Amino acid sequence: MPQTFLCDTPEATRSRARELARTLASPVVIALYGDLGAGKTLFTQALARALDITGPVTSPTFTLINEYDLPGGGKFFHVDVYRLHDAVPEAMALGLEDLFDEGIVVIEWADRIRPLLPDERIDVYFEHAGEDRRQITIQDHRPA
Ligand SMILES: Nc1ncnc2c1ncn2[C@@H]1O[C@H](COP(=O)(O)OP(=O)(O)OP(=O)(O)O)[C@@H](O)[C@H]1O
Ligand SMILES: [Mg+2]
Repeated sequence: MPQTFLCDTPEATRSRARELARTLASPVVIALYGDLGAGKTLFTQALARALDITGPVTSPTFTLINEYDLPGGGKFFHVDVYRLHDAVPEAMALGLEDLFDEGIVVIEWADRIRPLLPDERIDVYFEHAGEDRRQITIQDHRPA
């Protein structure tokens, strides 16, 4: 069952990310969907903080993939496929799928590479619901 949350402030969105972070075990893929400015990067930054990544977590729009070490071992990958032109073949050529077993992988604009996404993943949908309000829907496809 998808769960929907209305987040009235950026902090409410961060709080939702922290809740999700508590459930994460590597490897896992978290697919983010939503328009420009919907909150995907903000959510990812809060996830990274909650996982005790301390340095700056910046948007990988131009770098495509940012990689961070998790303090307890393992990796956190922040991926943004917005800039890819022909996203599926380009992501394949970059070896994106190889990451899926290698850590916690968060993907912005995941709808652009939908055929590559593993079935067992977490989908997070962001919708504008007012200037500072976002509706966030989380659908967890991990096995129970
Ligand atoms: N309730 C809210 N939740 C999340 N972000 C909010 C909220 N209210 C306002 N904002 C603002 O919306 C912006 C979200 O930007 P963010 O970079 O996270 O979007 P994005 O989905 O990653 O966009 P892009 O597709 O360009 O990468 C931030 O400036 C943030 O402060
Ligand atoms: Mg972003």
